[in-house]
Amino acid sequence: MIKVEDLKVHYPIRGGLFNTIQSHVHAVDGVDIEILPGKTYGLIGESGSGKTTVGKVVLGLEEATSGSILYKDFDMVKKSNRKKVDYNRDVQMIFQDAMSSLNPRKRIIDIIAEPIRNNEKLSEDQLRNRVLELLEIVGMGQDAMYKYPFEFSGGQRQRIGIARAVACNPRLIIADEPVSALDLSVQAQVLNFMKKIQQELEISYLFISHDLGVVKHMCDYIYIMYRGRIVERGTREDIYQNPQHIYTKRLIAAIPSTDLDKAKEVKHLREEVEREFAESESDYFDENGKVYKLQKLSETHYVAMRGE
Ligand SMILES: Nc1ncnc2c1ncn2[C@@H]1O[C@H](COP(=O)(O)OP(=O)(O)O)[C@@H](O)[C@H]1O
Ligand SMILES: [Mg+2]
Repeated sequence: MIKVEDLKVHYPIRGGLFNTIQSHVHAVDGVDIEILPGKTYGLIGESGSGKTTVGKVVLGLEEATSGSILYKDFDMVKKSNRKKVDYNRDVQMIFQDAMSSLNPRKRIIDIIAEPIRNNEKLSEDQLRNRVLELLEIVGMGQDAMYKYPFEFSGGQRQRIGIARAVACNPRLIIADEPVSALDLSVQAQVLNFMKKIQQELEISYLFISHDLGVVKHMCDYIYIMYRGRIVERGTREDIYQNPQHIYTKRLIAAIPSTDLDKAKEVKHLREEVEREFAESESDYFDENGKVYKLQKLSETHYVAMRGE
């Protein structure tokens, strides 16, 4: 449905006496991502690996330095193409912090109705019914409509953000750390809602997270990102059952364990992975510390390693 090809985003770093461009941060350095309808994808990596930048470029909040984003045979990197295929309606975003993304001075009805108003001509009655339906989908009642964001808990606000994102029947929702600001118990609740909505509306998700654990039960397919590149990609089984890249193994070892009895085991595993990371670095990164090209392991599984 959407095909991101060789996407690069390089930010200039300015400095010196004349504030000239000194060098560039290669925030995204040649990324390919394919998204099929109705599927859930994970884009996982530590802070600074370039995940948010990928999300922003796909949404159009940030310019690509090069590469393409194909949707219905048009390249979305060229902004004028976006209108032709209703791209800005079809691709929506859910943010980490719903408090800062929901206008605090607007009532919930107006927050959710805003994207609908921008896209369709409905009477106020129709609009109200539509908002009511959307609130129902995310498990909230009519009484929420005339309240303000601050009157809700973090989990409820995130659900309001979801209702707003699905208001115009999008094809893809990009969710950047959608639950990392929430308590563990609420995280599961919000993710379950997203799963349920997906089944009803046939949406694709691109989940961005620093934690492989959060998305474990959600994702059909996972992209592991490091230093601006994809270091491994595969189905959920490929990644969790058969991780190949040392960095993927490190992320798996870093999944927080809720089981206290296992604390010793987890600590041992982490030490083991760190040792392997130090010893085998040259198999995974070239002499400049750059990630190698992806090698195909199976129809679904690719890893960035030094070739033969
Ligand atoms: N507007 C910007 N200007 C300069 N550098 C940026 C900008 N946005 C992000 N970066 C840099 O790009 C890299 C990737 O950032 P980001 O995409 O936010 O990573 P992530 O979401 O994985 O934490 C980081 O090194 C970050 O400092
Ligand atoms: Mg980020």
